[in-house]
Amino acid sequence: MAVGVFDSGLGGLTVLEALARRLPEVPFVYLGDNAHAPYGVRDADEIFRLTCAGVERLWAEGCDLVVLACNTASAAALRRMQETWVPPDRRVLGVFVPLIEALTERRWGDNSPPREVAVKHVALFATPATVASRAFQRELAFRAIGVDVEAQPCGGVVDAIEQGDMVLAEALVRSHVEALLRRMPRPEAAVLGCTHYPLMAAVFADALGPGVRVFSQPEIVAESLADYLGRRPEFLGGGTASRFLTTGDPKTVGAKATLFLRRSVPFEAA
Ligand code: DGL
Repeated sequence: MAVGVFDSGLGGLTVLEALARRLPEVPFVYLGDNAHAPYGVRDADEIFRLTCAGVERLWAEGCDLVVLACNTASAAALRRMQETWVPPDRRVLGVFVPLIEALTERRWGDNSPPREVAVKHVALFATPATVASRAFQRELAFRAIGVDVEAQPCGGVVDAIEQGDMVLAEALVRSHVEALLRRMPRPEAAVLGCTHYPLMAAVFADALGPGVRVFSQPEIVAESLADYLGRRPEFLGGGTASRFLTTGDPKTVGAKATLFLRRSVPFEAA
């Protein structure tokens, strides 16, 4: 009964940690496509192709349900995958919709018409591909009215994190937050719309200042998956062991992952 977790690289580990905490009895197989990270600068067709390849690899591990722990893949490829590619006995879920449901105070699958919600000004920080897809605004518009979204494409941040250059990552986060605050001086909520960004959550919060609620995606996604599996336990696949796979060099990726998570993460070649 394993569940697959896919990301372009290391960022999805922030989601995996929350999933494993929330569902300790479930084995998770993680696949980081480090050989092709970052996805955030690629076009939608490339992201679709790479994400499908990653998901197929996880299906081969006995994971009938795969979580795309990657906003870029969720925003640029998921809808097309679900509509044209995923067979009926498999599921691929994203990280985007649970976040928007939390922001708009909805339960999973609540498809009632859009309504007014408490937050009116939302700052979105994400990769250039996620921002360009406008998926966040689209999913939000299905659920809420009158919410003003200002999106900041945070070029360079994922690359710096993947390279382990946290000094550069911090400097870039501060400059992206400043750029956004010039256009939207007083957001009530900020969405870290990339699974790499929780690693920089303290820097985002500090740069945004007090009074901005920062939405943490990993916990929200974990709650949503627990809810889903409670209703659809048949999608717990046949796999039995937790594994960490990468398309990159397992030694290098494992060493970086160990730095981020502050525990040993034994990656194997995918
Ligand atoms: N961590 C991913 C996301 O949530 C991917 C970032 C990238 O590869 O550019 O968007």
